[in-house]
Amino acid sequence: MQAKAASSAYPNVIVIGAGVIGLAIGWRLAQAGAAVTLLDKGTAGSGASRAAAGMLAACAEAEPGERDLLALGRASQALWPAFAAELEHAAGCTIGLRREGTIIAALTDDDRANLQHHLVFLRSLDLPVAWMPAAEVRQREPHLASSLRGALWSPEDHQVDNRRLAAALRTAACKAGATLHEGVAVERIAHGNGHIEGVVVEGTLRRADVVVLAAGAWSREIAIDGLVPRLPVRPVKGQMLALRMDPAAPLLRHVLRVPGAYLVPRYDGRLIIGATVEEKGFDQSVTAGGMLSLLQAAWRALPAIEELPLDETWVGFRPGSRDDQPILGPGPVEGLVYATGHARNGILLTPVTARAISELVLHGTTDPLIRPLRAGRFGVRAAAA
Ligand code: FAD
Ligand code: GLY
Repeated sequence: MQAKAASSAYPNVIVIGAGVIGLAIGWRLAQAGAAVTLLDKGTAGSGASRAAAGMLAACAEAEPGERDLLALGRASQALWPAFAAELEHAAGCTIGLRREGTIIAALTDDDRANLQHHLVFLRSLDLPVAWMPAAEVRQREPHLASSLRGALWSPEDHQVDNRRLAAALRTAACKAGATLHEGVAVERIAHGNGHIEGVVVEGTLRRADVVVLAAGAWSREIAIDGLVPRLPVRPVKGQMLALRMDPAAPLLRHVLRVPGAYLVPRYDGRLIIGATVEEKGFDQSVTAGGMLSLLQAAWRALPAIEELPLDETWVGFRPGSRDDQPILGPGPVEGLVYATGHARNGILLTPVTARAISELVLHGTTDPLIRPLRAGRFGVRAAAA
């Protein structure tokens, strides 16, 4: 895409959605000198970016048929340490990046056979994963259940405190000069003669040279004049809970994945346990069944959690595309850019998305990593304007 004003000066950009994706793009654009306005219908960081577990799990979550996502995820993993350091410096706060790696534990002989089979697949992708015998796993995590049969060890899958990340991005974006308006819902995206005109809020057009659609699971709800069909993004519900450990004597130090749940320990003692994966639209309810399944799966792996106080339960909505890979790159009219559909990996993909989308907006260059992830793969197009 070529931003209308990119050749003379940096463009005037509206970013729809102030989750981690919109905020990080806004931060990068404002740093470069673009005039950036971030609009959010709620408060910044209150969507999926708040609900997430913060795992940076490019290897542990690699699945067949998602090679483009894997390449993007691995690139983002490589960016994370420098991105976190720069962000912490810019925002003046920490974001809780932890680099202990991830243990994917087997608790039965069946689990062990499944994981060893999965290991062959992960190694075929050249991923840095290895089998770890039970005794070695127990040295790292002594509170694991006696049924432990060994684990798949993924040393490059780390975690970050996603709530701190969103707060830091908000501060950094505003410090760099971006303007954030909360409680402002975009109704539609307007264009004419093949160019973006801006966004419509309460019936009034707000003009922009470039509009970045980063509204997460709600991206499909925002009409784009003449666009058929709408972007294929749907909410994928996830229920989560947090227990409270003693931060001085935590039960767990690594990210732990077991059949039916993952457990993510924070520096402040919170132990995040997630997550259900449900096709229920924007259903906000925390259910007994959801909590039961997560707690049971977590308890089988780490029985001592039964003594821990329950801190919080919540629901979030992953922005899932039709192939569960993000939708990144130019839209069907000049000046419209998509940055959505990050599904279960939006925290992981924040640094690489911000880099690729800001380069596209500022310089018109398309990172080869995002080329296969354009909306065109779904046949989304614009009607003649
Ligand atoms: P969001 O954070 O949802 O932000 C979108 C924003 O757009 C919202 O603030 C919303 O208010 C705003 N908006 C919507 N409509 C409008 C409108 N009309 N006008 C203006 N603003 C609007 N990812 C990982 O990498 N690791 C994990 O461990 C992980 N765990 C997860 C666990 C759960 C339970 C869930 C739900 C998600 C998880 N994810 C994880 C995925 C990750 O949270 C998302 O991919 C990521 O947060 C998407 O960020 P976003 O900025 O696109 O969306
Ligand atoms: N990536 C973890 C989740 O989406 O639940």
